Amino acid sequence: MASIVIDGLVKTYHDARGNQTRVLDGIDLTIEGEQFVSIVGPSGSGKSTLLNIVAGIEPHSGGSVALRGDDPAGPKAHVGYVFQDPRLLPWRTVMQNLGFVQRERSGWEARARHYLDLVGLAHVGDRYPSQLSGGQQQRIGIARAFAVEPDVLLMDEPFSHLDAMTSRNLREHLERIWLESRRTVMFVTHDVTEAVQLSDRIVVLAPGGRIHETIEVDLPRPRRASDPDVALMQAEVLARFETLEAAAA
Ligand SMILES: Nc1ncnc2c1ncn2[C@@H]1O[C@H](COP(=O)(O)OP(=O)(O)O)[C@@H](O)[C@H]1O
Ligand SMILES: [Mg+2]
Repeated sequence: MASIVIDGLVKTYHDARGNQTRVLDGIDLTIEGEQFVSIVGPSGSGKSTLLNIVAGIEPHSGGSVALRGDDPAGPKAHVGYVFQDPRLLPWRTVMQNLGFVQRERSGWEARARHYLDLVGLAHVGDRYPSQLSGGQQQRIGIARAFAVEPDVLLMDEPFSHLDAMTSRNLREHLERIWLESRRTVMFVTHDVTEAVQLSDRIVVLAPGGRIHETIEVDLPRPRRASDPDVALMQAEVLARFETLEAAAA
């Protein structure tokens, strides 16, 4: 399984007048294979920028990012990405949407059905995205990302457009699919309670793009928001995070 090794990462944007803004300021972070790590931080602290650099969508200004497989001489780690909105192709059925992205043609149908089943949507394969709710569409987006079987999965606030009940339901689906098919996951969210429920580790970014603190979440899985241990840790981490947000405001 692939690990993500980020070393002294710096990102600077230049505006039209030549002014520089540093949005990531020396990020050191290693995510081991099959770990689920969340990045939380106030709005503008550089979470999406960090994820986009790891995805290779955005260039960086200094330091390094390496995606390493088990075999350093082997093929490059394959990266999957789940966006805020599911970005399904409206003119294709659910199954066609899942088939379209497959790297490996052989057996794709069985694989697609397997992951659809894991998000509880085995019965909608022949429907079009417009025939599904927003929450169902995002579940399809998650099934699609897993069905490609990437080494590394990057998610940028995938549930933030959904109402509270739907997003709670989706977390459970995401945890289930991840427990069944472990991937190295980097998950960006501004929702601390979500991070506690899903992650092995939470990395808190402070404004200015530095790591404020790293929190290990050593709770048994599967986790439910109703578990007392989960609720307690959510409250603790939320209190710490609110202090950081207040300082940033
Ligand atoms: N293309 C860009 N050009 C200039 N500044 C940018 C650009 N993209 C993001 N930024 C700035 O970088 C900072 C971090 O943005 P972002 O990574 O989107 O934060 P987050 O995802 O934590 O809300 C913000 O201050 C934002 O305005
Ligand atoms: Mg963002």
